Amino acid sequence: MLRVARDRLLLPAVMAALLILALAYWWLDNGPHEIFGTLMFGLLGWHLTMNRRWFLKLRSGHYDTRRWVVLVTHIWLGITITVLVVTSVLISRSVLSLAQFTNNVSVIELHWFSAYWVVIIVAVHAGTHWTRVMTVTGNVLRLSPSPIRSGILRLAALLLLCFGAWSFFVLGVSTKLTFGYSLEFWDFTSRVSPFFAHWTVVMAGVAVLSHYAMTCLRLLDKTRIRSTEGQT
Ligand code: HEM
Ligand code: HEM
Repeated sequence: MLRVARDRLLLPAVMAALLILALAYWWLDNGPHEIFGTLMFGLLGWHLTMNRRWFLKLRSGHYDTRRWVVLVTHIWLGITITVLVVTSVLISRSVLSLAQFTNNVSVIELHWFSAYWVVIIVAVHAGTHWTRVMTVTGNVLRLSPSPIRSGILRLAALLLLCFGAWSFFVLGVSTKLTFGYSLEFWDFTSRVSPFFAHWTVVMAGVAVLSHYAMTCLRLLDKTRIRSTEGQT
């Protein structure tokens, strides 16, 4: 059980934390930024190896709407993370300092542009798997179903959604995702922790949206199946 908790809960949580940490480039400086980013990519290798069965089963079974959504999210995530890895190798000044391939501004811009997209799609990805995360958490903590706990969690999800929308605006995420150049950088000399809090709730808010979108699709699928069964 502890291994399941480590692989299915701790590992994704550490990866998400490293991702947010790497965003704080101007607080960390180049060396730590590259080390945390490289660590994240290393853990990603572990995450993908552990979930390799998903890739092996791609060609079998039936594809309903939810399975298509998960597939498209993984392709999208795969593309953006590949761009992030490739640009990291190209612009590295510390980890691969001997082989610094380029200083080209467009490659650097592509690096941070893909980084912001990775953050958002990882949140969508986590949201699409949230039911599994909750099931694993319930099993690890040996929790039995409780309507009070469900109500509290739903309220927390609503709050995260509201705070996430506010933080999305505060951080100017839409400008970052549209390749818009913003002169508004986070001022780390005056505040550090709000930067991490804002990015965390942006990710949580997107994950909540994605989780409930999957819940709606599940309900729609059930209704469709019931109505076709009723007709036959
Ligand atoms: C910071 C990055 C990432 C985080 C936080 C994250 C998080 C998660 C979580 C919470 C789960 C469900 C628990 C589990 O089964 O392990 C999961 C599953 C999975 N993730 Fe990720 N993930 C990340 C990156 C990626 C990337 C880049 C890919 C490649 C496309 C990927 C592919 C998968 C696959 C194939 C599964 C299993 C899906 C299934 O069995 O239905 N993940 N991930
Ligand atoms: C989790 C993975 C990573 C994320 C999310 C990320 C994100 C970012 C962001 C947002 C910036 C721009 C800072 C700014 O100008 O506002 C940046 C800059 C940079 N990153 Fe990364 N990065 C990651 C991994 C890496 C890795 C692994 C390397 C190298 C091995 C790297 C090398 C660099 C360099 C050299 C810059 C400075 C570019 C410049 O302005 O001259 N990054 N990164």
